Amino acid sequence: MGKGKRALAIVIAVANQKGGVGKTTTAANLGASLARQGCRVLLIDMDPQGNLTSALGVSRSSQLTVADALLDRRIDLPIVAVPHGAGFLDLVPASLALAGAEAQLMNKLGREMRLRDQVARLGDRYAYVLIDTPPSLGLLTINALVAAERVLIPTEARFFALQGVQMIEESIEEALYLNPKLEVLGILLSKYDRRLREERQVSDYLRERWGERVFVTEIGTSSKILEAGSSGMSIYAYAGGDRAAELYAQLAREVLSRA
Ligand SMILES: Nc1ncnc2c1ncn2[C@@H]1O[C@H](COP(=O)(O)OP(=O)(O)OP(=O)(O)O)[C@@H](O)[C@H]1O
Ligand SMILES: [Mg+2]
Repeated sequence: MGKGKRALAIVIAVANQKGGVGKTTTAANLGASLARQGCRVLLIDMDPQGNLTSALGVSRSSQLTVADALLDRRIDLPIVAVPHGAGFLDLVPASLALAGAEAQLMNKLGREMRLRDQVARLGDRYAYVLIDTPPSLGLLTINALVAAERVLIPTEARFFALQGVQMIEESIEEALYLNPKLEVLGILLSKYDRRLREERQVSDYLRERWGERVFVTEIGTSSKILEAGSSGMSIYAYAGGDRAAELYAQLAREVLSRA
């Protein structure tokens, strides 16, 4: 790439079929953190629950959503600017309509490639595109895995959660069929309570089993993180001075060094 020429975005899917492991929280706060470190960031909500949309304070009944752009190629990804405490980052919102869109997509040609084609149209507008996915391996998650080049896997540090990591690795294998360059960016302990012995054991096991794939940064359980999400704000807008805000900044630096 020539000097001064902007590169295409690095597209990262945040995925784990297991529910409630911190996918949405990670997408929101990592996105905000990357934006605060000077990157142009786009977040895409691919979950009909619309949690990422709400977590950033955008109404889920908003005008156009990602569903419209997936179903109709004449419609561009609808983008809204959301504050992150010291500026803005961009979001493609979702609503429950996305559940209907997933069903409709089943009968459409190129159904797994719809998001990839939309993201390609963004050209060099963004340095990072983060895609939040639902807790299932349906067509929406597959669209995210086909559009992305890297997968960030948030996980809890519980024995049951290890199954989720295994399952997403299998899904990545499957997705290679349509997207041969897909790679794991890293596994993130996204809700880690190191006071619990089980959690410390699982954390040790993850690092033994997956080595450097596991991010050095661990996001501890924190009431501020929970409250920020429920208040429709990133951690920076809600409690910028909190330790959790620093942890997401540290995670962003790790992501920048890996991708
Ligand atoms: N580090 C943390 N400390 C405390 N609470 C957290 C943390 N990370 C996430 N949470 C909370 O845990 C809940 C689940 O998190 P989140 O919605 O990010 O998970 P998810 O994987 O996106 O869930 P789903 O599978 O339903 O999409 C939310 O209420 C969120 O605020
Ligand atoms: Mg979620």
